[in-house]
Amino acid sequence: MVSTPFIAICALLAVIVVKTLVTVFQRARGPLSYLPGPWYTVYTSKALLYYWIQGERTTYVERLHEKYGPVVRLSPSEVDFSSISGAKKIHRFRQPFLKASFYEAFQGHLNVSESVFSTRDSDFHALHRRLLSGPISKSSLKSVEPIVKARVELAIQKMAAEAKSRGCMDVLKWWLFMATDIIGELSFGDSFRMLEIGKKNQYAEDLGKVASMAGIRLSFPVLLKIASRLPFNIPLFKESADSMTRILRYAEESLQRHKNIVEADPVNAKPTLFKNLYKAGEEGMSDREIAAEARAYIVAGSDTTAHSLTYMVWAVCKDATIKQRLVEEVSRLPEYFSDEDLESLPYMNNVIRETLRLYAAAPGALPRTVPSGGSDIDGYWLPGGLTVTTQAWSLHRDGSVFPDPYTFNPSRWENATKDMHDAWMPFGGGPRNCIGLHLAMMELRLATASFFRKFTNASVSSREGFTDDDMAPKAYLLVYPKGKRCLIDGS
Ligand code: HEM
Repeated sequence: MVSTPFIAICALLAVIVVKTLVTVFQRARGPLSYLPGPWYTVYTSKALLYYWIQGERTTYVERLHEKYGPVVRLSPSEVDFSSISGAKKIHRFRQPFLKASFYEAFQGHLNVSESVFSTRDSDFHALHRRLLSGPISKSSLKSVEPIVKARVELAIQKMAAEAKSRGCMDVLKWWLFMATDIIGELSFGDSFRMLEIGKKNQYAEDLGKVASMAGIRLSFPVLLKIASRLPFNIPLFKESADSMTRILRYAEESLQRHKNIVEADPVNAKPTLFKNLYKAGEEGMSDREIAAEARAYIVAGSDTTAHSLTYMVWAVCKDATIKQRLVEEVSRLPEYFSDEDLESLPYMNNVIRETLRLYAAAPGALPRTVPSGGSDIDGYWLPGGLTVTTQAWSLHRDGSVFPDPYTFNPSRWENATKDMHDAWMPFGGGPRNCIGLHLAMMELRLATASFFRKFTNASVSSREGFTDDDMAPKAYLLVYPKGKRCLIDGS
């Protein structure tokens, strides 16, 4: 006689098989089945997940574009566009496609306010973006230029000292300390002093831990849901929760300290990017909201700027002709140059532009959701709710727009075409483009000029086993050199 458990298992298996067959059938006839892309992406997103976990999603998607063209299906619910027209439509200013659920992973903690970066709510975004934009606009940033310049100069001094004692300098380390100190000081009115101390402080370590949890949340959302329901703590999650608590406490304490200084002496208190938002009411933000925005600024404004500068120095040092032209141009600057002097340097600005093309710090997918009524992009009808992505990595390597796209060639920008400008999206596009782009550009200009005025003979080091392989880009949302170091011989 057949036992009851056996019948139950058979019934369960039958349900699974029928459900799988129905899904396979539906997807095979679904609206994405006629899009270009590998056959398996009609049925599964496993390949995409695999490459994401390896830090190779960006290059995998690029390979698919090389094979299938500018529109490629990545999974049963995701399509990537590498055309200028596709990017313009997705990131348009009027009725843009909203950020996809992907961004919820950056929220991280139920008690934390949303930020201008993580929110998917267009009203919340519009309000916060409006309040934050004034202090970080090009004209307002003039008041913080001395703070930025002082940090750049300290970074150069530290690099020179390291080159002397160690024989080479790790520019990645110093640019990271510099960029984090700058955005910390501009957020909280007080630097993290990582440049002075020469190592990451607790706050930066905690941010790193929370960011890596965002990676796990993105890859394994179900796993995290299960873990949060367990009656006991899993050490990794506990550590991340502790880091988040410390981050919030640090932000609250620092903001309160700066608020007290502003109240006591409003005229002489250091300018920050939030100082004018302290006042309550419609034109202000609560402490909780400012703390969340400060966290977003620090996460979004540290590695991005530092890694861009790192690749810039490395790429320039690898080509003697480019380096000589750059060194000659910056050596003609007056001793006490300002950022305004730098804006008119043609070659240096082309070097920066080319760095942001070939080594865009956030080169990966910027996921957006197709509006509920569906939308036509590049001649393909896409149903509402679907995720569409663009990635700067592919837009910036389109050979029909950038001839010889893999070569670092700043001179290509001397006669730039409209398509080159349109395809160049290192800071994203539309209303969700980078709010920190003027600050980032100021840092890149001041640091590039200061570096190549000081280290006129800088060259890529071969000490400590450093090779080009260390600089192979690994790209999750942000790009970083595989070896997590960049050694330069400097004099
Ligand atoms: C070279 C340096 C930088 C690069 C390449 C860069 C790149 C980007 C990109 C591509 C986006 C769009 C992200 C998306 O759509 O998902 C973005 C957004 C953002 N960035 Fe940057 N960024 C840089 C520096 C900074 C700095 C210094 C700050 C500090 C304030 C910052 C703060 C932000 C914020 C808050 C957003 C979200 C804006 C919004 O959604 O309205 N970034 N950035």
